[in-house]
Amino acid sequence: LRHQLLSAVEAAATLDAIETIRIEALGKQGRVTQLLKTMGAMSPEERQVQGPAIHGLREAVTNAIAARKAALEADALAAKLASERIDLTLPVDAVPAGTVHPVSQVMDELAEIFADLGFAVATGPEIETDWHNFTALNIPDTHPARAMHDTFYLQQGLDAKAAGTADEKTTFSLLRTHTSPVQIRTMLGQKPPIRIIAPGRTYRSDSDATHTPMFHQVEGLVIDKGITLGHLKWTLETFLKAFFERDDIVLRLRPSYFPFTEPSAEIDVGFTWTKGKRVIGGSGDAQGGGWLEVLGSGMVHPKVIAACGLDPAEWQGFAFGCGIDRLAMLKYGMDDLRAFFDGDIRWLKHYGFAA
Ligand code: PHE
Repeated sequence: LRHQLLSAVEAAATLDAIETIRIEALGKQGRVTQLLKTMGAMSPEERQVQGPAIHGLREAVTNAIAARKAALEADALAAKLASERIDLTLPVDAVPAGTVHPVSQVMDELAEIFADLGFAVATGPEIETDWHNFTALNIPDTHPARAMHDTFYLQQGLDAKAAGTADEKTTFSLLRTHTSPVQIRTMLGQKPPIRIIAPGRTYRSDSDATHTPMFHQVEGLVIDKGITLGHLKWTLETFLKAFFERDDIVLRLRPSYFPFTEPSAEIDVGFTWTKGKRVIGGSGDAQGGGWLEVLGSGMVHPKVIAACGLDPAEWQGFAFGCGIDRLAMLKYGMDDLRAFFDGDIRWLKHYGFAA
């Protein structure tokens, strides 16, 4: 019986087979269990001979089953590990990735170009006070220029104004309509000489193919002694040549009006036509092209300098303001401003901004 059971255990190929053998041998009705039961009816002499043999048999079978079971379990585990193996060296599919947005990219380019000219980057809040956005820039309450700005006013500002309690210098009452309030904050915050650009978001209640309610501007401000319109023109020409990466940039200064500059000039750049597309560069008049307005600028108004606590007899300067989205459109040939804010990766790809 011993030999029969042990070779059956040895031959068992599965854990189920082992269990069947265990029940047959050691279960309640098992053959070894039956043998153990016969011992009760034996004479003491007989039990002394048979007892160790029966117990030995039970122990040998129990051990053999445990050993075989352990071996089968080890095999099963090895098989499972082999089947679930992950090949870490297999290449994965690339996840589509976006890139830095064209507007952010242009902002970085601006900061770089102007850093080479000695300009630092300044910032100001997008929620502004009436005073910083308008009054200090020589746009008093009654000024018609306020109507031109399509300002988003905040309810708390309107409420304070209606109650006659608005302190226009400290109540943040509107979304800035241009980056020019950063001129004011900079002049109030640091001593001249000043050379800064201020890129950032601006807001006007306006929307079509070339206007979005939120857009981006960059402001420029230089305050020093003996600053002239010549410095303004050279700075903008140098900037535009670097930005459009062309030496044949031609500027046209067109007399204009801004309350905070005097004199004021709109800056146009010449463009020519190539394959039905406008290309910045060349003289708009001489080569059958035209002019595109890119910047507003002028000499900082003495009243603005005085509003910031500086003596206009001692300090002069120039300022300019420019739509960043518009610059990006001109440089990269995009034609609908609204697409800038759709977050569509196909659009980025089309203009070479995503792989
Ligand atoms: N702030 C003006 C605008 O938004 C631009 C400007 C800035 C003009 C600085 C002159 C000087 O239209």
